[in-house]
Amino acid sequence: MHDIRADFPILARDAHASPLVYLDNAATTQKPVAVIEAVNDYYRRYNANVHRAAHALAEEATEAMEMARAKVAAFIDAASTREIIFTRGTTESINLVAACFGIKSGSRILISEMEHHSNIVPWQMLAERTGAQLDAIRVTTTGDLDLEDFRTKLDERTALVAIAHVSNALGTLNDIGSVIADTHAVGAKVLIDGAQAVLHLPVSVKALDCDFYAFSAHKMFGPTGIGVLYGKERLLEAMPPWQGGGEMIERVTLEGTTYNRLPYKFEAGTPHIAGIIGLGAAIDYLSALPRDLLVDREEKLVHLAVNRLKQMPGLRMVGEPRQRISIVSFVPLDAHPHDVGMLLDQQGIAVRTGHHCAMPLMERMCVPGTVRASFSLYNSADDVDRLLTGVEKALSFV
Ligand code: ALA
Repeated sequence: MHDIRADFPILARDAHASPLVYLDNAATTQKPVAVIEAVNDYYRRYNANVHRAAHALAEEATEAMEMARAKVAAFIDAASTREIIFTRGTTESINLVAACFGIKSGSRILISEMEHHSNIVPWQMLAERTGAQLDAIRVTTTGDLDLEDFRTKLDERTALVAIAHVSNALGTLNDIGSVIADTHAVGAKVLIDGAQAVLHLPVSVKALDCDFYAFSAHKMFGPTGIGVLYGKERLLEAMPPWQGGGEMIERVTLEGTTYNRLPYKFEAGTPHIAGIIGLGAAIDYLSALPRDLLVDREEKLVHLAVNRLKQMPGLRMVGEPRQRISIVSFVPLDAHPHDVGMLLDQQGIAVRTGHHCAMPLMERMCVPGTVRASFSLYNSADDVDRLLTGVEKALSFV
């Protein structure tokens, strides 16, 4: 199989005088040379603003940006590039929907107890602003979505269900197919937070029939500061713009403004052009990989890690979801997760510890936080061995 590790220069470095084991991929993934070079190339050869000037550089930059949009549309199987809005990331994508979707007082928004704060707080702010009601679907002790509770809470007053495709803290793969079907049956819309899913699963927004799908480039080998909001065209058409400024307008007079067509209506200001081009390069890079094989290998590694951690004395797994993607979370029995994280770091092993921006889920699982190891397509069996030896050693110190 293609030696994918060689494409990521950072994986060859040391951390604290040990070879780096990078298992914090749910926070951000590393970048392949192809992405680094694409960003570099834009700044070196054709840096210019897009959609504005009539010169060669601007034309090249605009073409590269719009090609990247077409790549994103193909990557998630959207019907049209008009459905692809560039944002700063998943968080901004969700905030955009919260600001523009038009939820009214008395309507209901359903989220779940396993959401990242970025899929909780925008809805709380909206509820405060509009008088809409916010409710959360329960999560079981195994870290699965309680679908019975969902069906009890879903009713005709529900305007929107906003739910993670994959939990960033536990790795739970949610059955979003049935969530979407049930939600549509009551006439409500669905937003999927796909931040932790797009790299590991083939996503077809058409097949899923979701109304909105949000994700970030930096969790799929692309640059930080750039993300995507997919929305069904007729919903986006019906929504008012979010931020005002250049690019999102058709005509401005001092008396009023008419707005640009999709997707530009939602893209005020100079976009993160280098980021968009880098995202396009990340999609090209991913498309050229034997992704199925790599995902399969990643899944095996995660299961190996889960099975071996389960047998290790001195720790407890947090969440045993029915279906899991790329993430394993645990707590030491006699220490704080941060202590274990620090001891792993000293051995060159990068994990995340704490509440993972999912405080309500931590409360539900009765833990202050966890140690989270999150995998990507470039992790190896050696990384799993190093993690397990590292955890054993850390537990012997605490
Ligand atoms: N959402 C990212 C994480 O889970 C930052 O670590």
